Amino acid sequence: MKPIKKAVFPVAGMGTRFLPATKASPKEMLPVVDKPLIQYAAEEAVAAGVDTLVFVYGRTKNAIVDHFDKAYELEMELESRGKKRMLEQVRSIVPSNVDCVFIRQAEALGLGHAVLCAKPVVNNEPFAVILADDLINFTQQPVLSQMVDAYNYQQCSVLGVERVPEDEVNAYGIVSGESVGDRLSQVSGIVEKPTVEDAPSNLAVVGRYLLTSRIFDHLERTQRGAGNEIQLTDAIASLLSEQRVLAYEFKGKRFDCGNKLGYLKAQVEFGLDHGELGDDFRDYLKALNLDTNVTGINSKSGAA
Ligand code: G1P
Repeated sequence: MKPIKKAVFPVAGMGTRFLPATKASPKEMLPVVDKPLIQYAAEEAVAAGVDTLVFVYGRTKNAIVDHFDKAYELEMELESRGKKRMLEQVRSIVPSNVDCVFIRQAEALGLGHAVLCAKPVVNNEPFAVILADDLINFTQQPVLSQMVDAYNYQQCSVLGVERVPEDEVNAYGIVSGESVGDRLSQVSGIVEKPTVEDAPSNLAVVGRYLLTSRIFDHLERTQRGAGNEIQLTDAIASLLSEQRVLAYEFKGKRFDCGNKLGYLKAQVEFGLDHGELGDDFRDYLKALNLDTNVTGINSKSGAA
């Protein structure tokens, strides 16, 4: 099988759960400490061996295109001021061996439709899909690299999954399957946002997929499903009729940065892990003395 060299980033969503921040700019540009979500996602793909980043964008796209574009004026300015580190940071957003491709998703018809829009670039190669608002912290190996290892060994599509509380299954694609090894299950079924009663398990697909190009045929035949959208989940269910699909329980901690609480948690934990700021931030949090009923200065119970 061919290696995974392309990653698709569906970035056309409206980000309505994050209004008003996402009124004029994409949710994928929300920063966690000092990097936008989409940059974490791109770095994860590049670390896994990807050399082509395919962004499927909709409205409010400019910030993402600009972020991955060369910034001549900024680079010249930093260079003339001798700001070497900052210059390096700006230049390393996209390594020189990596290409960025932007594809317009004219109509927002769902995640499955967004992935199908990438077909002309991906062609007949296996590829990754990363949903940037699922930000996953790791200790040893980024999640996509873990999945690529599983793909290389198993030679089939691999879905990144984690167990979620039962009352949250209706927010995810949920898989059923049998364990076939350490952290791996062979998927026997997958259903988009089932009710708690109908869910086959609590094993939820988070925003990491490695898919064979056969998925495109299935996407082309997929009708609108949950939420009246063309669902990637439904195409994967159809793919199961001809190919093996594995679910991989990744090592790492996921933050749902598509919702405000998940995003706040990510800020705290990535802040604590930050090379330059971590220690000061830890001291700051300690000084807040969180055990003793601390509130923000403007909250009702905090105001004197
Ligand atoms: C999408 C997918 C869903 C998956 C989820 C992970 O849903 O449709 O299957 O479990 O991402 O974040 P969304 O969150 O876009 O509604």
